[in-house]
Amino acid sequence: MERTLSIIKPDATRRNICGKIVAMLEAAGLRVVAQKRIHLSRREAEQFYAVHSERPFFDELCIFMCSGPVTVQVLEGHDAIAVNREVMGATNPAEAKPGTIRKELAVSLTENSVHGSDGPDTAAQEIAFFFSEIEIVG
Ligand code: CMP
Repeated sequence: MERTLSIIKPDATRRNICGKIVAMLEAAGLRVVAQKRIHLSRREAEQFYAVHSERPFFDELCIFMCSGPVTVQVLEGHDAIAVNREVMGATNPAEAKPGTIRKELAVSLTENSVHGSDGPDTAAQEIAFFFSEIEIVG
């Protein structure tokens, strides 16, 4: 069993499609073992995406991530990190495969509906950023 961090981004909470996204995650075999809806501060968004701080899109990304509520989740399953990345689709919805969350639901490269951890180390760090162990119930 593996765990990964998922974020349903403000473009999706705004359109009231969290349930649709959770259904796609569950259909892919992932289990939501922790979940909460929060509104990130600018500082929290900058901390979470610190790895991208030198990238030209950093400011736009942080403004967007603070523009409304997000739903943060811990997903669990076999190969959860890879399975979640597969069901999310490519970062840019224009390049995502049909049937993926980003192809079917995302608005743009910035407003791409979901985030998922990209490896075991980042998954552990990102889960710890939002959740304590007592909040994760498998
Ligand atoms: P995410 O998986 O949350 O990780 C970083 C985010 O930056 C990414 O999804 C995109 O929403 C956003 N982003 C905006 N522009 C770019 C870009 N040119 N390359 C990669 N990510 C970008």
